[in-house]
Amino acid sequence: MNELSSTMIAPHVTDLSEKGLHITLSDGISYYFNYYWLRDNCPTSFSPITRERSFDIFHLEDSPCARTAEVEGDALVIAWEDEGHVTRMPLDWLVTYAGGNSRIDPADLTRVAWYSDHYPTVPRFSQPELVADKDQRAAWIKAMLVHGFTIVTDMPDSDEGLTQTAELMGFVRPTFFGTYFDVRTHINPTNTAYTSAALELHTDTPAEEFAPGIQFLHCRANTVQGGQSLYADGVAVANDFRARDPEGFKLLSEISIPFFCEHDTYDARSRQTVIELDQHGEVSGLTISQHMADIFDLDQELLDDYYPAFCRFGRMLQEDKYMMRFLMKGGECIVFDNHRIVHGRAAYSATSGDRYLRGCYVDRGEMRSTYRALVSEGRFKG
Ligand code: OGA
Ligand code: ZN
Repeated sequence: MNELSSTMIAPHVTDLSEKGLHITLSDGISYYFNYYWLRDNCPTSFSPITRERSFDIFHLEDSPCARTAEVEGDALVIAWEDEGHVTRMPLDWLVTYAGGNSRIDPADLTRVAWYSDHYPTVPRFSQPELVADKDQRAAWIKAMLVHGFTIVTDMPDSDEGLTQTAELMGFVRPTFFGTYFDVRTHINPTNTAYTSAALELHTDTPAEEFAPGIQFLHCRANTVQGGQSLYADGVAVANDFRARDPEGFKLLSEISIPFFCEHDTYDARSRQTVIELDQHGEVSGLTISQHMADIFDLDQELLDDYYPAFCRFGRMLQEDKYMMRFLMKGGECIVFDNHRIVHGRAAYSATSGDRYLRGCYVDRGEMRSTYRALVSEGRFKG
């Protein structure tokens, strides 16, 4: 007998109690499962056509309770009291979710931080290949999840080209200033981006309650003097800030500050923490914009600590170690995670040539959804 088989136990139900049952699984550990949970997740509760739950637990007359439950082959078989219904639950399914485990998420990938020298190794994808090839699309979105920054090359020189590219990832997400935006010098600019001035590092539209996730900037022309693009990875900076300045990190990740964006027909406001953490407590992004930060309405004594920490972090974002600097070329589209990557640009001379970027957004959740659908078969495989 090898070591593994000597520790394998025949799975068996040990106890039926009022609200749930105990079952010892093949690892020898006794697990408790609640009856509501078992009944609600019975394989017959789901429609294979709609792939949604069709069973309605709200309309059970009484709390679900097992009359009998035993292991038969590779399933736990439960005969329910009152209902006359029998559930056959595969044991390997129970093992997967024992102890409150969540479903495995193929889009929950480890982020890889990048630094100022990243430009030559930025993942690049050719637009016609993305359109033609599902595997290329999966690789592109994977690179977005891991690095938060990609370049799409060979873009069609048209408005439709941008729409087509964004729709490979999800639906185009409008903001309070419309569905698309044109970054070039405007006669009456409503925004610093629409002038030829420098734009400090920022994330876009922080004043939206739910700022758009993925930003597309399609370069249609760039022949001016100046106008270099500046990008830094908020995850790289915030992780280093966490190690260098734990007190500052705590303030910026726990306390929300107000942002605004106001003009003739809109007055958007929101509160955001500058550093965003994910469900694992890892840094997943940033919200920062000096030109859209509102009046900090924190206790003035808290500001004694908050403001210096905010400035330490803002200066750190601009350190040479982090900032990638390059010139966009016509026919390229920069695609980046607007909640993770800070971006800006150097000033340019508006009369020295043409500079025109057309942009739009797709939500992060849309991107993750498209990725999962591309790389996995979901719950209803087979
Ligand atoms: C913007 C922006 C960058 C650029 O429009 O929000 O950041 O390179 N533009 O002009
Ligand atoms: Zn911007």
